[in-house]
Amino acid sequence: MSQNLLSENVKAVILAAGKGTRMKSQKPKVLHEIFNKPLVSWVLSACENIGAFENIVIVGHKGEDVQDFINKNHPKSSCVFQREQLGTGHAVSMAKENLKDFNGLVLILNGDIPLITAESLKKFIEFHKSNKSDVTIMSAVFDNPAGYGRIVRDKESNVKEIVEQKDCTPEQNKIQEINTGTYCLDWQKVKRFFDELKNNNSQNEYYVTDIIAWANENAFKTAAYVLENSNESFGINSRPQLAEAFKIMNLRHLNKLMDEGVTIVSPENTEISPETIIGEDTVIFPHTFINGKNEIGKNCKIGPFSHLRGDCTIEDFVKIGNFVELKKSHVKSHTNISHLSYIGDTEVGANVNIGAGTITANYNSMTKAKNKTTIKNGASIGSNAVLVAPVELGENAFIAAGSVITKDVGANALGLTRSPQKEIKNYVK
Ligand code: UD1
Ligand code: CA
Repeated sequence: MSQNLLSENVKAVILAAGKGTRMKSQKPKVLHEIFNKPLVSWVLSACENIGAFENIVIVGHKGEDVQDFINKNHPKSSCVFQREQLGTGHAVSMAKENLKDFNGLVLILNGDIPLITAESLKKFIEFHKSNKSDVTIMSAVFDNPAGYGRIVRDKESNVKEIVEQKDCTPEQNKIQEINTGTYCLDWQKVKRFFDELKNNNSQNEYYVTDIIAWANENAFKTAAYVLENSNESFGINSRPQLAEAFKIMNLRHLNKLMDEGVTIVSPENTEISPETIIGEDTVIFPHTFINGKNEIGKNCKIGPFSHLRGDCTIEDFVKIGNFVELKKSHVKSHTNISHLSYIGDTEVGANVNIGAGTITANYNSMTKAKNKTTIKNGASIGSNAVLVAPVELGENAFIAAGSVITKDVGANALGLTRSPQKEIKNYVK
């Protein structure tokens, strides 16, 4: 049954034109970030992880900003403008021209649900296919369904329609199965719905939710897939919800890492981006913040109080200690960076010892250039050294404490820029 989805013809339409008024922000809602990555980008990544790369993002409010981000970070996806926000159905209809000849499945998702996973989207599509459904809706069961559209089922438990809370009867109001806003459509079969949109509801908007009742009336097959982990459909409307989603995403990843053999000493005090892979028997000590994409090997010790800012590769048996900041760097095995250091844009070899307070001066604020530092295997750097990039330290090079290194140091050489110590006898007397 389970075919390779990667070969399947799936495109997502992601709704992201809304203003996000409750964020109280100059920035469009879907560009607010969790772990350095905008909400809409999390949704797109989930789609890309099931093999859907050419997605369509419907943008409106500050749409140019969203478009800029998409062009740079999801180059196969495109943006379509919805100049006036007349409802979710109207938003999807903006993609009609782009999808005219598309003969596959269209997933519709909201752009503000960063917790959705590729695994759930895969199961959702499998369900749609095994049911031979034409329109499938992803639902979830909530203790408190307030604010959501309700899934109305008939006696045989078939989905009949979706009713928005504002249009609910008191009976329907009690329904706990809600519409997550994620749909799977056999596009060529049901695209006609988007030519027949109506806005006879309490908000006078063109609702995409009407597609269920429409499909039933037009003898198409409909189904509802109940999301196992309902928090995946958690939508962000406000800053507290953004913080809540961050917490959920973090804890989910920490649990996964612990299942895979990583020790997280204090999960309540540790943040690790889901785009960070960590090997077995590595220990993460408290108050460590790991952002962006990173790869950390086995048997490392990270923290307490370490900050990895992304694009770091750390090999096995490495120690990164307290108040160490690392960015865009590769650290080879058995190297120690134990205290109070900044290492950026740096290649660090194996068996290197970096003393307390070592700084790579990688940024030239006049030219705005970021320069590279290379530290070869076995080098040893004394405390409080400044390595002014671009600079290279050869194999087993030794840097004296307190030195400001502006020129390359050869293999096995001592690099020293410290002024000689003077002693003035009986000066105090
Ligand atoms: C929608 C669903 C509701 C569901 C809920 C899940 C409808 C009518 N209702 O309600 O059944 O339970 O999502 O979160 O679809 N958008 C546009 N253009 C528009 C209108 C909206 O792009 O013209 C985008 C918004 O930016 C947002 C998404 O569509 O990302 C959902 O819109 P929103 O107004 O938040 O719908 P809800 O009222 O939450
Ligand atoms: Ca919403």
